Amino acid sequence: MKKYLVIGNPINHSLSPKLHTYWINQNDINASYTKQKLNINDLKNLILKVREKKINGVNITVPFKKEIIPYVDKLTSNAQATQSVNTISLTDGKIIGHNTDIEGFVKAIKEIKYNIVGKKILIIGSGGVSPSIIFALYKMKAYNIVLSNRTKEKATYLQNFYNNTIVEKYGWNKIKVVKWGDVPEFDIVINATSVGLTKDQKLDLDFSNIGKDKLFYDVIYNPQETNFLKSGKNSGNKTENGKKMFVYQAAEAFKIWHSIEPEINQEVMDLLDD
Ligand code: ATR
Repeated sequence: MKKYLVIGNPINHSLSPKLHTYWINQNDINASYTKQKLNINDLKNLILKVREKKINGVNITVPFKKEIIPYVDKLTSNAQATQSVNTISLTDGKIIGHNTDIEGFVKAIKEIKYNIVGKKILIIGSGGVSPSIIFALYKMKAYNIVLSNRTKEKATYLQNFYNNTIVEKYGWNKIKVVKWGDVPEFDIVINATSVGLTKDQKLDLDFSNIGKDKLFYDVIYNPQETNFLKSGKNSGNKTENGKKMFVYQAAEAFKIWHSIEPEINQEVMDLLDD
């Protein structure tokens, strides 16, 4: 029996086991998929087990998406560009670090038929998922990206990393950083923080003067409607949660490991509701 894992810290909230196990059963694959809470000094041993084929694939979630990089043999171009790995495979004897969050986000946006071209984006948060969202948005031809993070240094770090690498390489508009509390004009605002995972949590930001025809996108999918999305809805704007992104990133990982395109239907989407 093949063995797959999602690792992170915390990891209890992860719905990856539910989703992957559903697809494993649907495709009659002899495999298990479980979650495991790890510490940073467990990563080396984890990769050793993948090399020895005791574990056949791993999903990486916060806070290890960057920390895992020193232990892999090779990064895909998406993982390299974002310095973020969420999927590990052993391919031709080599440990490969993939980033399927990018494709997950791109496919989610395509599915809602939202046109990113020329849009001004405000991203709240500069943690584990932000690098992938930035890269995906620029690949989809966003006009510019502004970052806002409670701890400004983390936003500035991400800004410098990107502006000096792929933003410069592709001639994209440079990423800007605003101070926490400022809400500049935008077409799309993305909550990429963990605020809202608990129902009563609320971002300390004022969106009351932003006008209409905006998209409020929350990376969080559980709860389905965070206070951030509620404020978007109440001001007459379009809203979308992170469920589709989550399902599509998982589907990309499933394809890498099993060479099968898993089915995404209403039953799959319903699996992830409370
Ligand atoms: P990490 O950054 O530790 O890898 P993450 O879940 O990927 O974890 O990121 C958490 C994000 O949510 C960060 O941008 C974090 O902001 P800080 O860098 O200031 O910690 C943000 N966040 C968490 N709690 C927050 C809060 N109460 N208000 C605003 N932002 C918050």
